[in-house]
Amino acid sequence: MKKYSPKTQDDTYFNLKSYENLYDKSVREPEAFWAEQAAQNLYWHKHWDKVLDYDFTKAEFKWFLNGRLNVAYNCIDRHLEKRANQTAIIWEGNEPGEVREISYQELSNEVCRFANVLKNKGVRKGDRVAIYMPMIPELVFAMLAAARIGAVHSIIFAGFSAHAIHDRVIDSDAKVLITANVSLRGSKTINLKKIVDEALSKENPIQTVLVWKRTESETKMREGRDVYLSDELKKVSNECEPEILDSEDPLFVLYTSGSTGKPKGILHTQGGYLLYATMTHRYIFDYKEDDIYFCAADIGWITGHSYIVYGPLSNGATTLMFESTPLYPNAGRYWDVIERHKVNSFYTAPTAIRAIAKAGSELPKKYDLSSLKVLGTVGEPINEDAWEWYYHNVGNENCTVVDTWWQTETGGVMITSLPGVADMKPSYASKPFFGIQPCLVDKDGNEVLEREGKGMLCIKYPWPGQARTIYADHERFKKTYYRDFPEKYFTGDAAERDSDGCYKITGRVDDVLNVSGHRIGTAELESAIVSSGIVSESAVVGIPHEIKGEAITVFCILSKEHESIKTALSLVKESVKKEIGSFASPDTIYFVSGLPKTRSGKIMRRILRKIASGNTDELGDLTTLADSSVVDNIIATTLGT
Ligand code: WTA
Repeated sequence: MKKYSPKTQDDTYFNLKSYENLYDKSVREPEAFWAEQAAQNLYWHKHWDKVLDYDFTKAEFKWFLNGRLNVAYNCIDRHLEKRANQTAIIWEGNEPGEVREISYQELSNEVCRFANVLKNKGVRKGDRVAIYMPMIPELVFAMLAAARIGAVHSIIFAGFSAHAIHDRVIDSDAKVLITANVSLRGSKTINLKKIVDEALSKENPIQTVLVWKRTESETKMREGRDVYLSDELKKVSNECEPEILDSEDPLFVLYTSGSTGKPKGILHTQGGYLLYATMTHRYIFDYKEDDIYFCAADIGWITGHSYIVYGPLSNGATTLMFESTPLYPNAGRYWDVIERHKVNSFYTAPTAIRAIAKAGSELPKKYDLSSLKVLGTVGEPINEDAWEWYYHNVGNENCTVVDTWWQTETGGVMITSLPGVADMKPSYASKPFFGIQPCLVDKDGNEVLEREGKGMLCIKYPWPGQARTIYADHERFKKTYYRDFPEKYFTGDAAERDSDGCYKITGRVDDVLNVSGHRIGTAELESAIVSSGIVSESAVVGIPHEIKGEAITVFCILSKEHESIKTALSLVKESVKKEIGSFASPDTIYFVSGLPKTRSGKIMRRILRKIASGNTDELGDLTTLADSSVVDNIIATTLGT
């Protein structure tokens, strides 16, 4: 396997020795380590009484007990003395060169004004605020405004359908929803407000909808419920005292897919989450004063929460947010943004790298990318080819590539190579971050003790960024993450460890797909497909896809004869679009007469996965099938015979 030696600048935070020393301390004396970091990295209005209290069996974790702070204060106010005029956010809009620069002082004014509007609409500490917005600075103002007054934001990715919004708003019991009239993505204009109206056409707890005008285009407003933010903002001052909160008060809920049932509202709290986002951002991206940092994720997912907003702003950084898509107007858009804004670190997903690489290696060479020093990747396993392409063609062999493994539930990056520390090995996320104790567990639940090995990835000790619960469903939280392997957090991923102690994440072991870096549960998809009304049963599997990582393949049984397969196909696709969103649209749909099941009725997805990828010679043991003739029929269908 290829290895590349670590890159260092004169002022890189760590080398192998200093990383090992600090890591060692972080696991030997975790409480002392985290106490020191919390004091150094955050501003506390009141010091905590105890660093950590936990009980794995109850899935209860508390950090910095009785400490008090405000996250927005940490991300804005504490920087004002030194950085009032420094740019906090560089916004690159949908059209190349459509730029806004927002200083820390402006950020403070805007966030306070947004906070005052929320207060005027009756939002109080602990209330949930749903946010369904495009990638514009007002989205950040809205989240920090909620944080400032102690409200709990619940951001809904702007690609979700009306149905998905409705589910989330009901589950989180939000009383205010913030949206925009439209979202601009490449050549598309999406009418967000119309989707919100549809979502709120059924019973729901939302009392007020605040609408930002992304464009001047008219939108239908519902009397008594909908108001324009621009009108409300005129009525309020740009000062708002932060609500000083308990370290364990909730900060946000973010929905993510699991292997069963409806999406889970992952809940993060104040002090621990912010500390973890702050430290990981600083060290993993080797963030230094005056750096320009660009994370190309969407704030609708956890990467945007932690690494566009909370981590960078808490570090007083300049964070670049990007409204458009990597292919608009062409596959050179990221490089154009990096050149124009002299970006120092860039963070994206393998799927974007693969899509851009397809346009050829010549494109990045046309741009001056020499400002770059760290290149990050996240969201799915990165294949060696994509890693090499990134390293050579974008990084010009001068950058550290940080493959960062983590999850919505972990709050921040858990496993990654740090700049300057270890050899970079394509496709390896590499080493644990400070305080993180990963382990591998075999199928019987025993820890793999040999240095080299493979197994299910678990974490043995608490860390400040960990999720505290699933909103309003602690039992599910306990069952999903803490039941199968006692005294450990179970990630749902499988991994391998090599002789250097480096981890390579190989993918999910549960029924969760990773499509273009989006986490989608097969159960959610199956239920959306059955909602089409023409399907009696369906099974969804993921198969490898050159660009998306995984492609969604559906096997389903039609409940009645349909006019044509074409109509049936479009009805199934429509149903997924309606229930979840277009980003979850199936790649291939097969109508079959039966599904392979065990005698106890469990669908054997392993077989479907093999058939879908064309590996019909390697179907393995079929003796547990209730009816093996089903398999021949399915193979015949996939071959079109
Ligand atoms: C996958 C995204 C391999 C993994 C931050 C995890 C990765 C899921 C990597 C979480 C990586 C994320 N290498 N796989 N560097 N990063 N994953 O919650 O399967 O949207 O469990 O959080 O993405 O997805 P989520």
